[in-house]
Amino acid sequence: MKHLLKLQDLNKEEIIDILNLADQLKYENHNGIEHHLLKGKTLGMIFQKSSTRTRVSFETGMYQLGGQALFLSNRDLQIGRGEPVQDTARVLSRYLDGIMIRTFEQKEVEALAEYGSIPIINGLTDYCHPCQVLADLMTIREYKKSFEGLKFCFIGDGNNMANSLIVGAITMGMECAIACPEDYKPDPELIKWASENGKFTCSPNIYECAKDADILYTDVWASMGQEEEKAEREKVFKNYQINDKVVAFAKSDVIVLHCLPAHREEEITAKVFEAHANEIFDESENRLHAQKAVLVKLLQD
Ligand code: CP
Ligand code: NVA
Repeated sequence: MKHLLKLQDLNKEEIIDILNLADQLKYENHNGIEHHLLKGKTLGMIFQKSSTRTRVSFETGMYQLGGQALFLSNRDLQIGRGEPVQDTARVLSRYLDGIMIRTFEQKEVEALAEYGSIPIINGLTDYCHPCQVLADLMTIREYKKSFEGLKFCFIGDGNNMANSLIVGAITMGMECAIACPEDYKPDPELIKWASENGKFTCSPNIYECAKDADILYTDVWASMGQEEEKAEREKVFKNYQINDKVVAFAKSDVIVLHCLPAHREEEITAKVFEAHANEIFDESENRLHAQKAVLVKLLQD
């Protein structure tokens, strides 16, 4: 494992390895055991979009591992004034031990990896969000003990989250159902891959997808960068909501997850959100532990 550019970079064994280390780091963290596995290391964090969880969990994670993190907003970097990513990659590789980047185009993340000589971690692009899904898988395993025989259901936009969740669910052997409008499907290549490699459906029928689900998942209707489409999307996604009726189709012990930030009464009702707040905030906490595991795997000598 040299980089984490997308979840497809990892096979099932590598994901389990990360989740096991994440569990151990979480246990140690909760029990006051320090683990300075990245003493003296520096992670650069390039943000071209907003963030609460990704920024704070990576920064805190590096600190807890004995290293440090630098917040690099594109407003301050020369990248924001047009310096090519190829040059930025080669310069930053001389100073840093790793880079986490949140940006729009996936190809920018790939270019950093191609031109730089240090590990690159994708902190969200328009195409995918692998760090979030590692935390999601960690949370699913905490609640359900194993992935065996589980049905995973995502309701909403076939966006970056849906793309990475498909990869995560199918790779771990779960059944995967994506409920989304016809014109808002996930990446076609991933749909093809999922259909060939597991039990997969993608349909506009929310109830069929939610039926007997062990995990229900949703995300915002309009992602970062789609602000101008907000009004149009509110109409299209009106019925793609996790509410009591949808939950009633799932298994009685269903867990509900959301990567956050959440928009109540849009993709999820306040009632369902609060009823499942424990799972959702465990999921959020697990960003810290899962990413620390990724950092150790990638940055440790
Ligand atoms: N889920 C997630 O990535 O949150 P932030 O946008 O706050 O980082
Ligand atoms: N789909 C959302 C995820 C935020 C974590 C976005 O890209 O804005």
